[in-house]
Amino acid sequence: MNKESNLYVVNHPLCCHNLSIIRDKNTTAEVFRNAIKRITYLLFYKATEDLELEEECVCTPLETCTCKVLKKENEIIIAPILRAGLIFSDIANEIMPFATVRHIGMYRDEETLTPIWYYNKIPVEFDNPLNKIILILDPMLATGNSAVEAIKLFVNKKVPQKNIRFVSLISAPEGLRKVQDTYPDVKIITASIDNCLNSSGYIRPGLGDAGDRIFNTVEN
Ligand code: URA
Repeated sequence: MNKESNLYVVNHPLCCHNLSIIRDKNTTAEVFRNAIKRITYLLFYKATEDLELEEECVCTPLETCTCKVLKKENEIIIAPILRAGLIFSDIANEIMPFATVRHIGMYRDEETLTPIWYYNKIPVEFDNPLNKIILILDPMLATGNSAVEAIKLFVNKKVPQKNIRFVSLISAPEGLRKVQDTYPDVKIITASIDNCLNSSGYIRPGLGDAGDRIFNTVEN
């Protein structure tokens, strides 16, 4: 695990192994999805390791003991950026079934590489923004434009940056810089920092278009 400021690179051997599967252009959509899911568990282990706990009394069949449970006043919000972020939200739901899922719909204008909003399930105002823990999910942190837009949405609703985590599979240095310069206290959890972006805003070497590969819409 490498940590530099609020950036965590989960370079666990199983992440590396599964990344090699998803990078391969000949990997089928089914194998691609399953390999991402395996990496997702490892990313979420890191992304959730500092969730706050509180003590609770539990009666086992033998006696009463004190257990640690997630702090009840905190609300965990999973915010997948459509459509590729959905691959992470299935696993997020599985391991945190009590979380709220709030989808964010953005696509990239292919010429300007700026994000275009088309769906936003975030309420206009949050009660208790200080108690929200936000996990923004997008497998590819490329230019950082969508990431910054998504983070801004929560910061504007008074959620502290330190409560926001951005979870990605593969990140480009350009996108990382953009997020870190704009929101230095947001935690970024990723499995790889790749070399650079190409002129179309794709990550190199990357894996191509994540959404197309997940949903089997790659046009040959
Ligand atoms: N989105 C993708 O799906 N792939 C990239 O390489 C960059 C953005």
